[in-house]
Amino acid sequence: MKKVCVTGGAGFIGSNFVRHLLESDDDVAIVNVDALTYAGNLENLAGLETDARYTFVQGDISCPADVESLMAAHSFDTIFNFAAESHVDRSLHFGAQTFIATNVLGTQLLLDAARAAEVRRFVQISTDEVYGSLGAEGRFTEATPLAPNNPYSATKAGADCLVRAAHHSHGLDAVITRCSNNYGPYQFPEKLIPLMIANALEDKPLPVYGDGQHVRDWIYVRDHCSAIEAVWRGGRPGTVYNIGGLHDVPNIDIVQLILKQLGKPASLITYVKDRPGHDRRYAMDNTRIRTELQWEPTFTFEAGLKATIDWYLANSQWLQHVRSGAYRHYYDRLYGDRDAVG
Ligand code: NAD
Ligand code: DAU
Repeated sequence: MKKVCVTGGAGFIGSNFVRHLLESDDDVAIVNVDALTYAGNLENLAGLETDARYTFVQGDISCPADVESLMAAHSFDTIFNFAAESHVDRSLHFGAQTFIATNVLGTQLLLDAARAAEVRRFVQISTDEVYGSLGAEGRFTEATPLAPNNPYSATKAGADCLVRAAHHSHGLDAVITRCSNNYGPYQFPEKLIPLMIANALEDKPLPVYGDGQHVRDWIYVRDHCSAIEAVWRGGRPGTVYNIGGLHDVPNIDIVQLILKQLGKPASLITYVKDRPGHDRRYAMDNTRIRTELQWEPTFTFEAGLKATIDWYLANSQWLQHVRSGAYRHYYDRLYGDRDAVG
């Protein structure tokens, strides 16, 4: 049985990936290493506690002692590095230090550990944001130069460069996935889609930044998970793979669709002060992964959004738990001074 390490497996995508891999491969055992920051939630993994192929270890990838004891206790075939500080607004408004610690230093500590332990493959989970912003035309390819525009994406680009260097200089078998915006079950309601669903359910204002015409390319989280699995199994060492759902639309369209599906009025939409340096448009060219690895997304946006809304409706307790206490403080800090505009 192959033992793999998933860092950040108590977060949104990591927890979906743990579930995906356990379902898709009987021959895999997973050790999930997560620091349980505000975004890490063991409720995302409910039901797996009794699975003999799943182990949880609380640990910080930016702490050398934690990484050392993890590697001493296990012999890994692969490390999947999902762990990150992942929210752009937090990196802009609350400081970037934790982003540098986890996303940059944490990645380097894992790369060093992988090399020392002769881990077979290192899979770095990166993002389309490392490419910066597009104009009105075109899509990001793997050859697009890195041009990150906010502290979060700058630290992710830094991590990508360190992964590239570990492969180039030390021969570590590493692959990088760069995905577009995910949505689906277990996403923390600081991100656009779950935040809008949660607010709409309570008839609270839906805060749309700027003119609402910023474009993101949306992919259902389970499609992202199957793409990561495909890259893990068949990706060429040292290669970057773009992943995207080819569903690039303005934010306002997404918000309107959520309101429509929930039967809530458009009057809840509130335009607020824009995000500083807000990237205007992301859109991914996913030709490489489709042609080399025969991967295809399986969820249309309509089906994925319906599954997501249904999940939030069926899991109101999960939503209630993650929005208690610290979340309210976060919401007031970030949105309190964002008066409605227009
Ligand atoms: P998330 O914020 O939901 O989860 C991050 C997880 O990492 C949490 O469980 C948190 O506790 C853990 N973590 C944070 N710091 C840690 C540390 N120092 N040590 C160990 N664990 C730590 O994030 P997400 O949306 O699931 O994103 C996962 C990965 O995918 C990130 O690397 C992100 O950059 C990338 N990504 C996200 C998206 C998206 O749309 N959400 C798109 C493309 C790529
Ligand atoms: O593109 C991939 C990236 O997608 C990931 O690397 C990040 O980890 C993930 O957080 C996400 O970044 P974005 O900044 O694109 O996602 P977010 O959900 O924060 O915002 C999506 C769009 O919606 C963006 O244009 C800002 C806008 N927005 C967001 C929020 C939270 C609003 O208009 N109002 C809001 O309240």
